[in-house]
Amino acid sequence: AVGSDGIRMTMESALTARDRVGVQDFVLLENYQSEAAFIENLRKRFKENLIYTYIGSVLVSVNPYKELEIYSKQHMERYRGVNFYEVSPHIYAIADNSYRAMRTERKDQCILISGESGAGKTEATKKILQYYAVTCPASDKVQTVKDRLLQSNPVLEAFGNAKTLRNDNSSRFGKYMDVQFDFKGAPIGGHILSYLLEKSRVVHQNHGERNFHIFYQLLEGGESDLLRRLGLEKNAQQYQYLIKGQCAKVSSINDKNEWKTVKKALSVINFSESDVEELLSIVASVLHLGNIQFVVNDQGDSQLTSENQIRYLATLLRVEGASLREALTHKAIIAKGEELKTPLNLEQAAYARDALAKAVYGRTFSWLVNKINESLAYKESLGLGKRTDSVLGLLDIYGFEVFQHNSFEQFCINYCNEKLQQLFIELTLKSEQEEYEAEGIAWESVQYFNNKIICDLVEEKFKGIISILDEECLRPGDATDLTFLEKLEESIKNHPHFLTHKLADQKTRKTFGREDFRLLHYAGDVNYTVMGKIKSVNFLCVNFLVATLLPKPPSPTRCHPLPQGAAAQPHTLPSSTAGCSRPTLHIAKAGPPSPTRCLPPSKAGPPSPTRDFLYFQNVDWGGGMAESQDVSYGFSKTRRYKLFSIRYKSLCPDTWPNWNGRLADGVATLVRYLGYKPEEYKLGRTKIFIRFPKTLFATEDALELRKQSIATKLQAVWRGFHQKQKFQTMKRSATQIQAWWRGELGRRKAAKRKQAAETIRRFIKGFIYRHAPRCPENEYFLDYVRYSFLMNLKRNLPKNILDKSWPIPPPALTEASEQLRQLCLQNMVWSYCRKISPEWKQQLEQKAVASEVFKDKKDNYPQSVPKLFAATRLETDELNSKVIQALGNEKVKYAVPVTKYDRKGYKARARQLLLTDNSAFIVEEGKVKQRIDYSSLKGISVSSLSDGLFVLHVPCEGSKQKGDVVLQSDHVIETLTKVAMSAERVHNININQGSIKFTVGQGKEGTIDFTSGSELVIAKAKNGHLSVVAPRLNSR
Ligand SMILES: Nc1ncnc2c1ncn2[C@@H]1O[C@H](COP(=O)(O)OP(=O)(O)O)[C@@H](O)[C@H]1O
Ligand SMILES: [Mg+2]
Repeated sequence: AVGSDGIRMTMESALTARDRVGVQDFVLLENYQSEAAFIENLRKRFKENLIYTYIGSVLVSVNPYKELEIYSKQHMERYRGVNFYEVSPHIYAIADNSYRAMRTERKDQCILISGESGAGKTEATKKILQYYAVTCPASDKVQTVKDRLLQSNPVLEAFGNAKTLRNDNSSRFGKYMDVQFDFKGAPIGGHILSYLLEKSRVVHQNHGERNFHIFYQLLEGGESDLLRRLGLEKNAQQYQYLIKGQCAKVSSINDKNEWKTVKKALSVINFSESDVEELLSIVASVLHLGNIQFVVNDQGDSQLTSENQIRYLATLLRVEGASLREALTHKAIIAKGEELKTPLNLEQAAYARDALAKAVYGRTFSWLVNKINESLAYKESLGLGKRTDSVLGLLDIYGFEVFQHNSFEQFCINYCNEKLQQLFIELTLKSEQEEYEAEGIAWESVQYFNNKIICDLVEEKFKGIISILDEECLRPGDATDLTFLEKLEESIKNHPHFLTHKLADQKTRKTFGREDFRLLHYAGDVNYTVMGKIKSVNFLCVNFLVATLLPKPPSPTRCHPLPQGAAAQPHTLPSSTAGCSRPTLHIAKAGPPSPTRCLPPSKAGPPSPTRDFLYFQNVDWGGGMAESQDVSYGFSKTRRYKLFSIRYKSLCPDTWPNWNGRLADGVATLVRYLGYKPEEYKLGRTKIFIRFPKTLFATEDALELRKQSIATKLQAVWRGFHQKQKFQTMKRSATQIQAWWRGELGRRKAAKRKQAAETIRRFIKGFIYRHAPRCPENEYFLDYVRYSFLMNLKRNLPKNILDKSWPIPPPALTEASEQLRQLCLQNMVWSYCRKISPEWKQQLEQKAVASEVFKDKKDNYPQSVPKLFAATRLETDELNSKVIQALGNEKVKYAVPVTKYDRKGYKARARQLLLTDNSAFIVEEGKVKQRIDYSSLKGISVSSLSDGLFVLHVPCEGSKQKGDVVLQSDHVIETLTKVAMSAERVHNININQGSIKFTVGQGKEGTIDFTSGSELVIAKAKNGHLSVVAPRLNSR
């Protein structure tokens, strides 16, 4: 289908760049059979702190030895209910998958965690438990169960874990824990099965290792009161059992804090004060046992020297000191139905002591587990949900280990791991093959390394190593370790997985001790020493002898419930080995396990390729590789038709969106369309089998792409639909607004029109009745007329006094109009008057007088109107100073140059006419020729023509007054007005037509004749009259 590079690219496109380091699943590796590629991938990911990788559905985890930020609540949420391949590999994915499988398929599940010591198995178990504690539905009641499940761990670890060279907190027992769930999926109970506690650690530790944590915790953290009661000292160095490894105190472990944690956990899991006290008594008794010393007495038998310890032991274990003493120094042999007691030598006594210590501790541990189980057990009375049979099991064994010297216990442990591998193979391959059968698929048997042959080597009846050992122990005669080895060599020398010094070729022989035999385990080759095997079996008998002492005292029996008849028929080795197969059987009942394989990285610094390759090859990579091959052979992926077609139907036009025929046909069409090659898949009855995971991944990628296009399409359609809806809503709203607004406009217009019609109608009616007295019909009209007249008037008021315009008032307002006009005029006059200056006032007064006197009477009057009257025509400096002197204090108000005509000869002479307040003076140069008091001025005569002649009538009295004066002025109107006003003779000005008579003196009269002509001529006529021809003015 798709090229492999393409696969990888698109397959992981959904993941973040970080997740894309290497491949997430080893089956995606091109050359999945190459170890180098396998390790390279693991290394690449580990370098980026990606500690999890899949091999199909197996999770491989590499211990990071540091806290990683991948266990938060958010991480848990991310894995909840999500498919395996949708998220990056994680222990939570395994946990969640098993949980969901348990819930949906109602089938028990088991998570199997294997790996060598320090690889992180126990941590993984804890992570899984935490995952359930956080993500499973919970109520308050369930919370207690959850707490107990979680808190059982610190207690078990305190008693069952110890510091080893590899791991500060190495589990020294195997643990199978199952969690029961109610029908809602909430945890309601649990059960713990422990096995293979490494009891030898109680009495001996390798260099750099410690005894079980609890001893150190008790000594470090225990209250002094408590320690006193137990007869202990707060110093680990005092106790022989604690210092074998020479590292009682290590900086990385805080025993004091751990002690607190354990105490708290004990209370959570329902341990009463007295339970705890008793538990600690036993722990203390083990320490005391360790300090018991023997010496040889005269008979060569051992004798106790530490009476103090015996005393404490007697109280703590509640046994009699004497029987205890005897049990420690003697052995009982049942011969011919009789019990014989024989003393022990020094070595034997020490063995007996250690055996007792181991037994006591071992049973305490079992008791502890039982007690925890009691508190975890589902109790109907708690009112928890109804119990279902679904359980989820977690198997954390302590892993395959290889030491320099591998003891019998190690043999058991490694055998157990072997057994588990067998189980795993059986479950995965067998279940798969069963499925093929059920689906009617032809299958070829698959080549894989089956370790059954090794299991058989150990456990087969009569021929297996255990059987042989059993036989050797029970055989009468002197059985020793070496006879046992010989027996082994004899019986199984041809087995391909068994080697001894004798059987090995020259080269390999060097790697052997003479008392070793080698098993070529599934996970690596291990040399086991036979030394001590028989002994340990035989001392088991001693052990049980001692143990028989124990049930007698009342209380601690609770700690050591012995199987019935145990004393009568001591178990031999094979029975205890049966413990190995216990968990195996248990899991076999559950569904196919979800295996998790934990791997430690090379612990010493940055891993060197060769070193950790070799290391892993020996120990564990081999296993990983084999698993990756197991999964990759055969049909690696199966899918139910329904699920397959639902998931992938969008990839084929025929099946998208729906397939109407049979499901199987639909799937067939689909895979044909996808271009699956015939060898890549098979169609079963209800499932499709896909041979290579990469086929499915390619399909998955195609789906990923397709999803995008579908999503785009959906998006487009949805957006289109959404926009259309939005548009339509908007359009509807717009129309609505429009309609409303149009209505509103229409209504307004109609109202306006109606009002207009009303107005017009009223207007017309008013017009018709306009002459009638005010009545409803015409009042509007009249008001309107009045109003408009007034408004019009306001706009068109006369601008000045001379403006006579005035709007024509309607009849009703004639009177008011007139009054207004008056007012307006008055107002204008008033304001005009207020504005004029005194000079102007004078000017106007003079003009008014002039008008009154001369208007329409003298021809040159109109010409004078536009010219302003001057205040005077001669300034003071133009007058002769003598004249001014002569006038004295009379001030000259007006002076004008005039022409005087003699009364007799009418000779013209230039003179000045001066006016003062009281008199007029006629002046010639510096001489006053004539003074005329105003009082003596009778009148003034002037012609009606345009000339400037005038006569001042003065009576001829006295010498001074020489009679009337004939004068001519160029400003006749102005001059006469001034004279008349000064002399108050305004009404004495005569305007004559034709001629003027004047007195010359003493009754004589002169005449001046006036005629009109083309130009002014003044001359004496033949008749002795003065003839004046005045020019005709155009204006007339
Ligand atoms: N996932 C992990 N993250 C961080 N540290 C871990 C993780 N797994 C293991 N470790 C470290 O490795 C040590 C040994 O792990 P443990 O589970 O006790 O090993 P095992 O049970 O396989 O012997 C732990 O004490 C812890 O410090
Ligand atoms: Mg462990």
